[in-house]
Amino acid sequence: MGNKRYLKLGAILHGIGPGSLWRHPEMQADASVSLPFYKQQAQKAEEGKFDFVFVADGLYINEKSTPHFLNRFEPITILSALGAVTSNIGLIGTLSTSYSEPFTVARQFSSIDHISGGRAGWNVVTSPLEGSALNFGGKEHPTHPNRYKIAEEYIEVAKGLWDSWEDDAFVRDKESGVFFNPQKLHQLNHKGEFFSVQGPLNIARSKQGQPVVFQAGSSDSGRSLAAKTADAVFTGPESIDEAKLFYSDVKSRIKNNGRNPEHTLIFPGISVIIAQTQEEAEQKQNEIINLVTIEYALDHLGRFFEHHDFTQYSLDEAFPDLGDFGSNSFRSTTDRIKLRAKENNLTLRQVALQAATPRTAFIGTPERIADILQQWFEEGAADGFIVGSPIPEGFNDFVELVVPILQQRGIYRTEYESNTLRGNLGIPIPTNRNTVIKLADVIPT
Ligand SMILES: Cc1cc2nc3c(=O)[nH]c(=O)nc-3n(C[C@H](O)[C@H](O)[C@H](O)COP(=O)(O)O)c2cc1C
Repeated sequence: MGNKRYLKLGAILHGIGPGSLWRHPEMQADASVSLPFYKQQAQKAEEGKFDFVFVADGLYINEKSTPHFLNRFEPITILSALGAVTSNIGLIGTLSTSYSEPFTVARQFSSIDHISGGRAGWNVVTSPLEGSALNFGGKEHPTHPNRYKIAEEYIEVAKGLWDSWEDDAFVRDKESGVFFNPQKLHQLNHKGEFFSVQGPLNIARSKQGQPVVFQAGSSDSGRSLAAKTADAVFTGPESIDEAKLFYSDVKSRIKNNGRNPEHTLIFPGISVIIAQTQEEAEQKQNEIINLVTIEYALDHLGRFFEHHDFTQYSLDEAFPDLGDFGSNSFRSTTDRIKLRAKENNLTLRQVALQAATPRTAFIGTPERIADILQQWFEEGAADGFIVGSPIPEGFNDFVELVVPILQQRGIYRTEYESNTLRGNLGIPIPTNRNTVIKLADVIPT
């Protein structure tokens, strides 16, 4: 496919989906814990030549949580199973740097990378919810800036561990009895502010060198972290203008860090509703909106603000002034909710309903959706998209109706370029920091 830039696609695997979708007559109500459901979705995504499937996660629930969050698969476990029933598609799982240890996590992602033949990716998150601390020994939930400091050191440790073994370290010479070359084994000996990790890791590098690192978190600290460490960024802009600003800001931060901006891809998450006419698509959206009760919407909104109880305010008065509330949690999201409410004089009811069932801009005929994606891609708002849908058939429709249009327009692949995730994303294999390149290897004699 040469050097042409192709749009990249990921599929969010989200069980019973956002909000109250589980109530839809066509939704499998136990999809969040159904291996056949996940398998069908992953294989459908692979049929559409998607770059990857993507599994989000969280570490704290209570009775007010979104139904999907109450009973769902842990990402690494489900991705291991999906690795065995797919062959080209990447497998990206969310794992928090605030409530885990880098040695374990580096090892787990490396194992999936081997199991899948070089298709693993890790979506780094810092855990927005304070309640998470209650499930992990009860220490204090780290503050927003500290979570990002921890994350930065954590990723450095994980990447260091992934380079423990040089690529030709395992000799496995049965004759001489030499299993590995000790010169090619490297201890990390990391001692930092938050972690002390000796290494080496007990697994070698994979076919793609290291798992792909995604980052989700759009605040200033989140963007800085992405610029320093990430191969890809998951973000949730509300308009093309917001997406363009985010895109150019993150790409210039990457450049300022001495990295190649083309090697860190930016993926807005999108929610698609497709039908043969615009009216029919709007009707499908209304069916979903009608499933949402105001009680559910208030709980859903509350989750972004540390499960704040919004029932104490009057529904049809202006959105309450919450001061700094929420900034230690989903900061970029809560900042946006507060700003929008203020700018547009919204009531609490309007804010809650909008948060629980956002009206998507990616709605309409297959041609219209393809037009919007192409515009975002060509005008510097995205390198690709992470596709989800608020309706049960939305994802299948996307693969069957929108993908062929993107292919006909020559902006999306018709065949996989590679069977590794880095290969398909067009991101280089990182050089092993411990491999000394001898001059004799690069200068021909
Ligand atoms: C698009 C997007 C997706 C996210 N996905 C997850 C997730 O699956 N699990 C999670 O714990 N946090 C997730 N987060 C939260 C962040 O990792 C972070 O903890 C929180 O948003 C605060 O960071 P921010 O203010 O930099 O956005 C996501 C954030 C964004 C913007």
